[in-house]
Amino acid sequence: MRVIGIAGSPRREGNTDLLLGEVMRGAASRGAEIKTIFLRDLKIAPCDHCDVCLGTGRCKIMDDMQAVYDEVSRADRLVLASPLHFLGLTAQTKTMVDRFQALWAQKYRIGQPTLEKRRARKGIFVSVGARKTSNLFAPAIATVKALFAVLDIKYTGDLLLEGVDEKGAILKNPVVMDQAFIAGQQLAGETE
Ligand SMILES: Cc1cc2nc3c(=O)[nH]c(=O)nc-3n(C[C@H](O)[C@H](O)[C@H](O)COP(=O)(O)O)c2cc1C
Repeated sequence: MRVIGIAGSPRREGNTDLLLGEVMRGAASRGAEIKTIFLRDLKIAPCDHCDVCLGTGRCKIMDDMQAVYDEVSRADRLVLASPLHFLGLTAQTKTMVDRFQALWAQKYRIGQPTLEKRRARKGIFVSVGARKTSNLFAPAIATVKALFAVLDIKYTGDLLLEGVDEKGAILKNPVVMDQAFIAGQQLAGETE
């Protein structure tokens, strides 16, 4: 069981980093092989809509995204963590998401998904936002669900916390940190 975490915040050891860390610790406690990718440390260019991938199924841009394709295609479970930035995913996260257009092309235009079909792939979304309004996370969830559909990852749940702003504020909520650990255990423990 290989569990990949994707940390999408530009803020090192911020709230989503801390939550994601607990999810990954929970997964590891169930024997999963874990790896976290910190997008802020990678050089990933935005999709330039050149449409090369529509013919080849591959992205022509040779940057750190190539390693992300590889990690995600080998994962059994994915934990995508991004705080809200202007109600959506962070720029770092959305840039990565858009580059998965190459896998959309591979799946829907070329008809040759590269991701290993035999895996029962599942994923969860972890997010925080400063505000407290209804449906705060709806736009970000819609994007993550669209990504997971392309990657054949079943969206099995999320961990979403509003009213969290200052760096480390999440630590004032030990209940949610425990929930994050348990979410990781469940994600790694599910066999179906
Ligand atoms: C550029 C930017 C845009 C933000 N936009 C929103 C927003 O639309 N809604 C919201 O609830 N919080 C917003 N926030 C607040 C962050 O989501 C919040 O500070 C969060 O705790 C940051 O998580 P992190 O520590 O993992 O980076 C924004 C923060 C930044 C820097």
